Amino acid sequence: MTRLDAGRLALLVTGLAVASQLQADSGQMDPVRRGTAHYLFFCANCHGVNGQGDGPLAALLKIAPSDLTVLRASGHGESVAERVMKAVDGRHKVGEADEHKMPVFSENLEMKTVIEITEYLKTIQK
Ligand code: HEC
Repeated sequence: MTRLDAGRLALLVTGLAVASQLQADSGQMDPVRRGTAHYLFFCANCHGVNGQGDGPLAALLKIAPSDLTVLRASGHGESVAERVMKAVDGRHKVGEADEHKMPVFSENLEMKTVIEITEYLKTIQK
């Protein structure tokens, strides 16, 4: 197993462990905790467990994944929610369209999930 595989596996296991724990007591879970689990599952492979753009897949991408802890600081007035929404639905593009290396999630993620991920990301802004 390569280092990358080990890293991805560790992330996946963490994500699944958190996700199944969440399912166990889902009713009383707050949005930030659900958002954390969704984030680990859908986003951390690229953006890193702590959101700093250092996930195990980052080295393989042509465009470095953004540091999501500075979304507010670097937003030029755009809110964290706006930036997350635009990234997830594909309106935000870097360079040419075919160089946009972040997958578009809008068809796979429910709005509720995106909102919960946003709630989590708000808590890690510097
Ligand atoms: C396959 C790797 C990959 C995954 C998975 C991924 N991203 Fe990204 N993301 C990127 C890259 C690369 C960039 C920087 C280039 C760009 O903006 O397209 C980025 C940029 C962003 C930005 C910054 C946009 C801006 O305004 O500058 C946000 C917000 C973001 N991602 C959120 C997310 C969320 C939320 C998830 C999970 C639902 C996610 N990303 C999953 C690779 C990824």
